[in-house]
Amino acid sequence: MTKNPNEEKIISAYEKAAQDGIDPRCIPQKLENPVPEHDEIVYPDYTEEEQSNWKILYNRQMKFLPGRACEEYIEGARNLNLSEDKIPYLKNLSHIFYNLTGWKVARVPGLIHEQDFFELLRRKVFPSTDYIRSREELDYTPAPDLFHDIFGHMPLLTNKNFASFYQMFGDAALKAEGINRKYLETFHWFTVEFGLIRKPEGMRIYGAGIVSSLGEVQNALSDKVEVKDFDPEKIVEQEYDVWHLQPILFAIDSFQQLENGFKDWAKKVGIL
Ligand SMILES: [Fe+2]
Repeated sequence: MTKNPNEEKIISAYEKAAQDGIDPRCIPQKLENPVPEHDEIVYPDYTEEEQSNWKILYNRQMKFLPGRACEEYIEGARNLNLSEDKIPYLKNLSHIFYNLTGWKVARVPGLIHEQDFFELLRRKVFPSTDYIRSREELDYTPAPDLFHDIFGHMPLLTNKNFASFYQMFGDAALKAEGINRKYLETFHWFTVEFGLIRKPEGMRIYGAGIVSSLGEVQNALSDKVEVKDFDPEKIVEQEYDVWHLQPILFAIDSFQQLENGFKDWAKKVGIL
């Protein structure tokens, strides 16, 4: 959900609305009723244009990811059978997750309230939207959509260490209050959304906000970015700006390090 660098000065209607806080898709919704989960999810009646938007986005991002995204991400996308052919069916993805890591998928109507979000994570349920951005928003959308949720987030949830970390994150977040809530939001930003991982073959991407954004994929591994070592104490204090390409990122050495590092930090501050 980050800007294409070429669009720095162009403010779309949605972006303006989001800045003013009036794009309804950007306002977190409190879930009044249970949302459809796993087998309860139905496949929407997508238009041809929506299917072709998926194809464009899928092909454009996938072209950049080999050699840039980490192996765990690429393998996850393969495990989920993501392809250009068709917008994936959340129910099918849910079944694949369930077999690999015990997670399920729930279909949510948009950005949801953090309490609902953490509650779902704690239960090992990943909330996903099932609508796709419009043709005019292919480069940038301020709101969540299925391309970000599925293509960005889901591949790594097939990785056991990452899945275990994410469940722990939901658990800790439900207990966190005050400054710890803010710390967790920052931690989420620099790992789940914008994380990098050091591999023997070089620096690689795993954050959903990077893999699902054309501008970020080109920016993240460039010399415009200062990469810092993973250190939960430092991450939670790091400032960031959601509206611009990221100048500072953090790199983990492994998903095991992410899981253990988060666990130790959360225990230290008393939320696990
Ligand atoms: Fe995200």
